Amino acid sequence: NQLGVVAVGFNGGQCKLGVEAAPMALIEAGLLTQLKDDLDYEIHHDDTVHFYENLIPAEDPDHRGMKKPRAVSAVTERLSQQVYEHAREGKFVLTLGGDHSIAIGTVSGTAKAIRERLGREMAVIWVDAHADLNTPEMSPSGNIHGMPMAFLTRLAREDRRDIFGWLQDEHTINLRKLVYIGLRDVDRGEKQLLREHGIKAFSMHDVDRYGIGKVVEMALAHIGNDTPIHLSFDVDGLDPQWAPSTGTPVRGGLTLREGDFICECVHETGNLIAMDLVEVNPSLESLGASETIRAGCSLVRSALGDTLL
Ligand code: ARG
Ligand code: MN
Ligand code: MN
Ligand code: MN
Repeated sequence: NQLGVVAVGFNGGQCKLGVEAAPMALIEAGLLTQLKDDLDYEIHHDDTVHFYENLIPAEDPDHRGMKKPRAVSAVTERLSQQVYEHAREGKFVLTLGGDHSIAIGTVSGTAKAIRERLGREMAVIWVDAHADLNTPEMSPSGNIHGMPMAFLTRLAREDRRDIFGWLQDEHTINLRKLVYIGLRDVDRGEKQLLREHGIKAFSMHDVDRYGIGKVVEMALAHIGNDTPIHLSFDVDGLDPQWAPSTGTPVRGGLTLREGDFICECVHETGNLIAMDLVEVNPSLESLGASETIRAGCSLVRSALGDTLL
């Protein structure tokens, strides 16, 4: 069991400080030790939290309303390469963020590796309160952590090389291979895109109506049972009761048990090739930070095969 780990201390996709400290907090809580000792993974990690200081430009004016576009572009371009290098060797890639803008790097890296190794289009399961599907023009905030899926599916594109123009077709995700779970704060323009393109999305309303078991079954049925899966888990998909320390909390979310259940089921398919855990911010709601970190560790362990008899 080969596991490539990338620790990404990046906060430039949104405006709150603290999310860059999450990888260290998760590692200090013992996450990697548990994966090695309890779950028998052989861990490939450079023992570094990457802050990519030398990639962050001094001048980074807004572009099409996007905040810090060059910084996010440069960091995700580098991260894409790091993830690709693990994935092309067939290792499972675990990325610890960081805000959700880093998914532009992780998903593009695995998508390219899977195309090369298997000649296949990979699927993405995006567990989140938010769809993160805003185009720059639609975004209410200009924060790029609300846009990664738009760039990854080519709903948004930009030709400037230093502002995501490095994304090639090989990095992209087919809209039919994207599934959301946990949505409950979706912006107007995003709703329109979901409808217009028939994107598969299970909101909290669906979780309440069908139960988490049926929702995961339908999500996996949509993907099909022989498709490599990248799981991008935003900790704000969980209810703030379980994960209060996050930049954009929304009440009415998944219980920790429902989150773990999603991860366990995706693991059980045998098709999971990568996971991101993002948006843990230990400096927000500091009383809840250790709980949020523990929840994050639990989700990762579940996705990597813990708790199954
Ligand atoms: N939809 C809002 C926006 O675009 C919030 C996005 C929150 N994204 C996240 N990864 N937490 O600004
Ligand atoms: Mn979110
Ligand atoms: Mn909103
Ligand atoms: Mn997100």
